Amino acid sequence: MRNKLTIDFPILVNSENQLQPDFLPADLVQAPFSQGNKWMETTAAAQLEKLIRFIGGEKDIIVTSAYRSFAEQEKLYNYSLRVRGKAYTELYVARPGCSEHQTGLAVDLGLSDSQNDEICPTFNGKEISTRFLERMSEFGFILRYPEGKSRITGIAYEPWHFRYVGCSYSRFIAQHDWTLEEYYNFFKQWREKDD
Ligand code: DAL
Ligand code: ZN
Repeated sequence: MRNKLTIDFPILVNSENQLQPDFLPADLVQAPFSQGNKWMETTAAAQLEKLIRFIGGEKDIIVTSAYRSFAEQEKLYNYSLRVRGKAYTELYVARPGCSEHQTGLAVDLGLSDSQNDEICPTFNGKEISTRFLERMSEFGFILRYPEGKSRITGIAYEPWHFRYVGCSYSRFIAQHDWTLEEYYNFFKQWREKDD
C-alpha cells in the first residue's frame, strides 16, 4: 500500500529533505499541454493551464516532464549516469527521493518548435518564455533552479523546471528574488530566535 498524501504546496524537497520511496501525492491528473501519460497534482495542473492560456502559449509551450515516481527517477538517474556521465548527472538530475518531480508539483516545459531533450528541454530565449517568467508568480509558480544559485539549490541553472508553491508563496519568493531554500532558511532563523 502506497503512502498517498495530500500535499503541502510549499514542501521543500532536495538532497537534505528527501521523500520516502513510497511517497505518492494524492489527486494526480493529466498534465495540460502534454503528450502521453504525464501527471501533475490537480491544483498545480489547473494553475499551469490557466497561466499558459493567459499568456497565449497554448501552441508554443509543452510539458515535457511532470510527476515522476521514485522508481522513474531512479531509472532516469541511472540512465543519465550511464549515458551522460557523473558530472552532468549531478548538475541536472536529482537522486531518487531528492526530486520534487515526485511531488507532482514540478514541471519541465519545452518549446513546441524545438528539439526537447528529456533531461534538459529548451525553454528560454523566446518571447513566450519571457511572458511565462513575467507572469508565473501570479499563478503560484517559481523558477526552482535559477541562474547563479546552484550553490544554494545543489542543482545547475534549469530554465525549464518550474515548481508550483501556491500564489502567496510564489509572490513572496519572487519579491525577494529567493530560491525555496532561501525562503526556508529565512524562517528557520526566525524560529531559532524565538526558541
Ligand atoms: N532536474 C531536477 C533537479 C530533478 O531531477 O528533479
Ligand atoms: Zn524538472
